[in-house]
Amino acid sequence: MPWFAYRNGVLHAENVPLDHIAAEVGTPVYVYSTAALTDRYTSLAEAFAGLPVLIAYAMKANANMALIRHLGSLGAGADVVSAGELQIAMKAGIAPGKIIFAGVGKTRAEMAIALKAGNTGIAQFNVESEPELDALSAVSASLGVKAPVAIRINPDVDAKTHKKITTGKAENKFGISYTRAREVYAHAAKLPGIRITGVHVHIGSQLTDLAPYEATFIKLAELVKDLRADGHDIQRIDLGGGIGITYDDETPPDPRAYADLVRKYIAPLGCEIALEPGRYIVGNAGLLLTAVTFVKPAEGKTFLILDSGMNDLIRPAMYEAFHRIVPVKAPNPEAELAPVDVVGPVCESGDTFAEDRPMPPVDDGDLLAILSAGAYSSSMASTYNARPLAPEVLVDGDRFAIVRRRPSIDEMTALETQPAWLSKAKA
Ligand code: LLP
Repeated sequence: MPWFAYRNGVLHAENVPLDHIAAEVGTPVYVYSTAALTDRYTSLAEAFAGLPVLIAYAMKANANMALIRHLGSLGAGADVVSAGELQIAMKAGIAPGKIIFAGVGKTRAEMAIALKAGNTGIAQFNVESEPELDALSAVSASLGVKAPVAIRINPDVDAKTHKKITTGKAENKFGISYTRAREVYAHAAKLPGIRITGVHVHIGSQLTDLAPYEATFIKLAELVKDLRADGHDIQRIDLGGGIGITYDDETPPDPRAYADLVRKYIAPLGCEIALEPGRYIVGNAGLLLTAVTFVKPAEGKTFLILDSGMNDLIRPAMYEAFHRIVPVKAPNPEAELAPVDVVGPVCESGDTFAEDRPMPPVDDGDLLAILSAGAYSSSMASTYNARPLAPEVLVDGDRFAIVRRRPSIDEMTALETQPAWLSKAKA
């Protein structure tokens, strides 16, 4: 990761020493690299050069508007899963015509917002069920428009990733089964508020192997031919997201190899192609900068207790996910590594970032960086234990800006009101 490297004995984000950010903003804080975002986006765009492709950034990975604005300036659209994400994408300057709306449970109110977005409505709804098709048709018909629709096909392919982020198996809640696809398209074609534009598929997240993609693309290309034979106008094929990144020692697919598969199986169909990458773009573009509150010796082990917790980065607790943890001050290369448990301050045993992790000697107050925390970290954060959301900082060369500040306790409680009948606490 060249964007986060040691220089003069200190870990930097691009040209900014992380201890400067900690001194100015405090910890915990998420730190993002603009150069990393640019690199990741353009590497994907270049891999698809010559193909008509819309890269719709999956905002669920990280919905900070500064990041979205930057990706938008590079040409990205947005893949959104709620009216909230849709409105944030538009606030960050993404044109509705580059927005795709996914999700198994879009409400009628959310459908209406998306149909009216920017007067023209969004580019595409990725529909996941027949009841959703019927509801969307009714909402669009009531507004006098037709909703552009791709139906999400569940190809029953095993993405070979973590169970909680596999989405393309028959038993998952997502999409319409491959075998029923033609019947459901036939139903959609009869609905007054629906205009069929394409086909959508997303098989899972953090894929490190191309084989499941290949199996999916083969099935999808067959299906598109059948759907066209049935008379449907399939103009866009949305291949979803899921390309993995390196957290530890994984070797994720090269975007060029992924694009080669698309060229082989999908491009000959002559459609516009949409991609929905999230983690691939932001995952390694961010880290969580945190300080050691205490080094606690315990029975047969040592705990590093950090000032960040599972509320800031839930992935280890939720998926047993591995994140590298490194000191900000470059460790002495001769220093011996000793296993420690790296934990947060939250009142749950699950608030653990790593168990028995070999680490160089660390003292109270030392700064650490939890790496690969650009995706599904700030976006999955909570205020559990009344811990304020950690601020976010965007680095660009030798400058940095706070792109979300830390809220005060008054701001955190600003939405609460006290019913008049409650009395004061007893003295
Ligand atoms: N498109 C759809 C329809 C999705 O459901 C997802 C992710 C994406 C695109 C983006 O996938 P990506 O390119 O980021 O892999 N919280 C989990 C990941 C959940 C992914 C959910 N869907 C984690 O921290 O690993």
